[in-house]
Amino acid sequence: MRRAIVAGNWKMHGSRTENARLIEELLAHCPAQPAATCVVCPPFVYLQETGRMLRGSVLSLGGQDVCADAQGAFTGEVSAAMLKDVGCEYVIVGHSERRLLYRESDQLVARKFGAAHAKGLVPILCVGEQLADRDAGRTHEVVARQLDVVLELCGAGALERGVVAYEPVWAIGTGRNATPEQAQDAHEFIRARIGARDARIAAATRILYGGSVKAGNATELFAMPDVDGGLIGGASLKADEFLTILAAAGPG
Ligand code: 13P
Repeated sequence: MRRAIVAGNWKMHGSRTENARLIEELLAHCPAQPAATCVVCPPFVYLQETGRMLRGSVLSLGGQDVCADAQGAFTGEVSAAMLKDVGCEYVIVGHSERRLLYRESDQLVARKFGAAHAKGLVPILCVGEQLADRDAGRTHEVVARQLDVVLELCGAGALERGVVAYEPVWAIGTGRNATPEQAQDAHEFIRARIGARDARIAAATRILYGGSVKAGNATELFAMPDVDGGLIGGASLKADEFLTILAAAGPG
């Protein structure tokens, strides 16, 4: 049985005041034993302070990105060891905003995945096609390419603890989520792709859906057999909305 994960990707939002309010509200209303693992991913500069607020709670901390290199002269970068040092358990790698806006290649993303895994973080590998790819019937091809580079470089074993997030680019921040059937199709494909290398790991890998998940559509998306929770952008900035999504990821 795969335990679902609901992770909030705050992206470049928030302030110390806003974060404190959000975390206070989350902690006040989060069930003592949520049915799914709950993770929040604030911007780097707020990780330590957010981690302090979360200490002893059921909420876990994650970074939004990580350097592929372990340490050294890499101005502006943050290493996996540093993320661990400030209390992160998770880190997002290969978000489409990083791939598209900052030109991160499949190879770089795979190295980041490996760097995070090597330091004991749980990498959340984002994959997903752009609208033109979907319209051209290339969804599986794109997702396979993004996934295969990680499987080649890190091995299927690196997914033992790892998480994949299917985030169709056309659904991110657009209010247009993939239908449950579209999500299930991509998730099933991803699981089969991993399964071709290692069936046991494929069965255990959590595959999250991301892209305009809201309180109103989470239940039907999470009901699909290969959807093991969600990676939530905009709706993770509103405590009530995020907690409703978390509840929707529970068993049944
Ligand atoms: P939205 O939920 O705002 O569409 O963002 C999804 C996302 O990119 C999460 O990483």
